[in-house]
Amino acid sequence: MTTDPRSIPTGVFERAARHEQVVFCHDEPTGLRAIIAVYSTALGPALGGTRFYPYGSEQDALDDVLNLSRGMAYKASLAGLDLGGGKAVIIGDPARIKTEALLRAYGRFVQSMHGRYYTACDVGTTSEDMDHVARECSYVTGRTVAHGGAGDSSVLTAYGVFQGMRAAAEVTWGAPTLRGRTVGVAGVGKVGRHLVRHLVEDGARVLVTDVNPAAVAALRADLPDVHAVADTATLVSGPLDVYAPCALGGAVDDDVVAALSARIVCGAANNQLAHEGVEKRLQDRGVLYAPDYVVNAGGLIQVADELEGFSFERARQRAERIFDTTARVFALAADEGVPPAVAADRLAERRMTEVGRLRSIWVG
Ligand SMILES: NC(=O)c1ccc[n+]([C@@H]2O[C@H](COP(=O)([O-])OP(=O)(O)OC[C@H]3O[C@@H](n4cnc5c(N)ncnc54)[C@H](O)[C@@H]3O)[C@@H](O)[C@H]2O)c1
Repeated sequence: MTTDPRSIPTGVFERAARHEQVVFCHDEPTGLRAIIAVYSTALGPALGGTRFYPYGSEQDALDDVLNLSRGMAYKASLAGLDLGGGKAVIIGDPARIKTEALLRAYGRFVQSMHGRYYTACDVGTTSEDMDHVARECSYVTGRTVAHGGAGDSSVLTAYGVFQGMRAAAEVTWGAPTLRGRTVGVAGVGKVGRHLVRHLVEDGARVLVTDVNPAAVAALRADLPDVHAVADTATLVSGPLDVYAPCALGGAVDDDVVAALSARIVCGAANNQLAHEGVEKRLQDRGVLYAPDYVVNAGGLIQVADELEGFSFERARQRAERIFDTTARVFALAADEGVPPAVAADRLAERRMTEVGRLRSIWVG
């Protein structure tokens, strides 16, 4: 008896409809439960970090890995890399269940994909963890400096965000500098604090906030001219020229758009727009949004460079080009009359299609 496919209840295949591959990895003795999602390999092997997180449900973990892997494909494409997009999640509290054996079990699953997916660090995993994974697997980047790795990726992430912000300043005020502007940075962790330094050196007035008072105190000990405000709501509603979300995703919602005095939103946080439609609301209010995955690609550029034998200077030069890429996104947005977030997606998809098509040419 044949079953009509339309009568089968929808599940993983429908949710992952645009993904090439989703792999579920299970090793009961170590407690490993991981999902690896490969969105696209049109431009090369899928690269994306491993997030180790105590998800509330398997559905939450699946949704997260599907969203994140799609984002990596777009990020790699616009960064001009020969890489596709993938991501992995390990379900569980890393503080409780992360062990050498679990990481190595995970490494064996990544190895079994034979290079369709390269992994790296993300929330809940470190370069030291990647060294463990690499004992079972050849497809690992983001390793420790002692093992030829590139070290802290936040340095070039911040540098790239700064380049994107300069491009936004040029479009908005006619000069690629933040000199004399007031920039509000929400979140002064690994990326935010490096970004603040670039801004101060460029002559900006910087206001910061962070839920962790120690992060603010450490920054101000180093850069005493930086002003701290109580919380993100205070920062956003105050007089700003630029708002830089550098903490969590979903930072820009309808309330923030309504409260903003800034003319530019440009920060490091992934998935800044809280829901679809926020990009249009920003545009309607005359706020220029520099798409997150365009400007925060410096970290990806850094770990990707490791695959060639890491050169900081080469990676820095690539991250510097985020200025040009951001400017191209703004130019296309103006030409086609769409918000920059839409223009960025179009540019990324165009490269995936045009360059990805070349693989159909048989090279013997
Ligand atoms: N590290 C990288 O290379 C990299 C690359 C691309 C994107 N990102 C994204 O940039 C963002 C920051 O990354 P990071 O590596 O600096 O992380 P981090 O954890 O080092 O820093 C985040 C900071 O934000 C603060 N924070 C958390 N919630 C806050 C809130 N509600 N209001 C104000 N501050 C708050 C935290 O206390 C912390 O100091 C994340 O969204 C991350 O996904 C990071």
